[in-house]
Amino acid sequence: MQKKLIEAARDVRKRAYAKYSNFKVGAAVETADGKIYQGCNIENASYSLTQCAERTALYTAVAAGESKFIQLVVATENGVSPCGACRQVIWELCGDIPITMVDEQGNIKATTSTELLPAAFDERDLT
Ligand code: THU
Repeated sequence: MQKKLIEAARDVRKRAYAKYSNFKVGAAVETADGKIYQGCNIENASYSLTQCAERTALYTAVAAGESKFIQLVVATENGVSPCGACRQVIWELCGDIPITMVDEQGNIKATTSTELLPAAFDERDLT
């Protein structure tokens, strides 16, 4: 299944709308019942409105009614890890899940949401 998820992330990366940075990102998240949702980054001339690939994928999945996620793959040119804002959103919606980064050559790095965002702020802090 991870191979399929990696392919989904690499595939949707081709649809990135990244005309300002030219840094294309694709993400794919797998649900507990084996469905895959994809997302790409979508930039804007008003730069701060840019939406990252990870959030596109997760928000699309949530809007489709999903709530249980078991792994996420992020595809970039150079295999980098999700930005800070996406780490917070991944933690909120997925908790501690495996996250895989893949580059254009197909090299893979594995991590987890906890590793990416230790001491995360979440609902437990809102008491
Ligand atoms: N980007 C993502 O899509 N995900 C990340 O985790 C890091 C950054 C996008 C945002 C912007 O379109 C481009 O990459 C350069 O920052």
